[in-house]
Amino acid sequence: MEKTEDVLILAIESSCDETAAAVIKNGREVLSNVISSQIALHTLYGGVVPEIASRKHIEKINQVIEEALQEAGVTLEDITAIAVTYGPGLVGALLVGVSAAKAISFAANKPLIGVHHIEGHICANYIENKQLEPPFACLVVSGGHTHLVVVKDYGEYEILGKTRDDAAGEAFDKVARAIGLGYPGGPKIDKLSKEGNPDAIAFPRAKVANAVYDFSFSGLKSAVLNYLNSCEMKGFEVNRADVAASFQKAVIDVLVEHAMEAVKEYGFTKLAIAGGVASNSGLREAFEKACAKRKIEFYHPSPIFCTDNAAMIGVAGYYEYLKGSRSGYDLNAVPNLKLGER
Ligand code: KG4
Ligand code: ZN
Repeated sequence: MEKTEDVLILAIESSCDETAAAVIKNGREVLSNVISSQIALHTLYGGVVPEIASRKHIEKINQVIEEALQEAGVTLEDITAIAVTYGPGLVGALLVGVSAAKAISFAANKPLIGVHHIEGHICANYIENKQLEPPFACLVVSGGHTHLVVVKDYGEYEILGKTRDDAAGEAFDKVARAIGLGYPGGPKIDKLSKEGNPDAIAFPRAKVANAVYDFSFSGLKSAVLNYLNSCEMKGFEVNRADVAASFQKAVIDVLVEHAMEAVKEYGFTKLAIAGGVASNSGLREAFEKACAKRKIEFYHPSPIFCTDNAAMIGVAGYYEYLKGSRSGYDLNAVPNLKLGER
């Protein structure tokens, strides 16, 4: 039985291909974190199929929520509020989580809190870094987003830069497909890179004119495809490990350079990374080195809290709860929700 002063958030996440629910105690303690991944299903098609994702969420959501409560050893009675991702993401997928959260909130008479998915990714850093407090800079790198963000306070964000085209994770997935590694590409390129030479092929590091913190990865992706085509035409054998390592290095160089530029310009003493790509081992190493050199504190979540999960939504939901944010039963899925909007 929980003490009455504890704030327990039941969190739900269904924005892409993970059906997830978690219970978070007082903002930073994960009592449960249940994730039902659809990856195996989408691998057949080489990427996430939205219609299949929605259907699978519907099949799994009740079971996942029940498991999260059970694992946490609590009942709905003990829960203080329900937090749910309402954007950005796939509209049909988001709607499943939002509808479930609204139904539970209404039936159990608990407050409902709509959470921004990217805010969740950023807040994943609070779980294992109990001493981390705003302000700090955060680089969010996921399958759908590449954002360099200033976390001014809990729930207060300023976007310094973002991608003009492909997200970092999207580039990993597309390049992985091109060299025959399959979906999701990020972890596979990460692994294969360890066997390759990162300086074997000179892929471009794109800069965006007049926007130092913005990113562009479509040119890099095209350069990899061109390289593969030209090898094929000339009858050269492709060293896939070298392609993976050189591509990964090109992405990492740009991400580290932009983040370090921002840290220097704004005088941050703390830098965090978040999102699926933040679990990349090469990226972590590069950031660790770059931050140590400049005496910047570097934070990152464990891989399980980098890729989509509901624990991060529960943490974000807790800080939104403290701020008094509440959603009505008209809460809808917003596929292109901007960070900082409600
Ligand atoms: O944050 P996430 O689970 O979902 C979104 O909100 O998009 O990120 C998924 C993305 C995929 O593109 C996946 O390939 C990438 O994160 N990813 C990685 C790694 N693990 C996942 N990219 C590079 N290295 C990894 N180890
Ligand atoms: Zn995500």
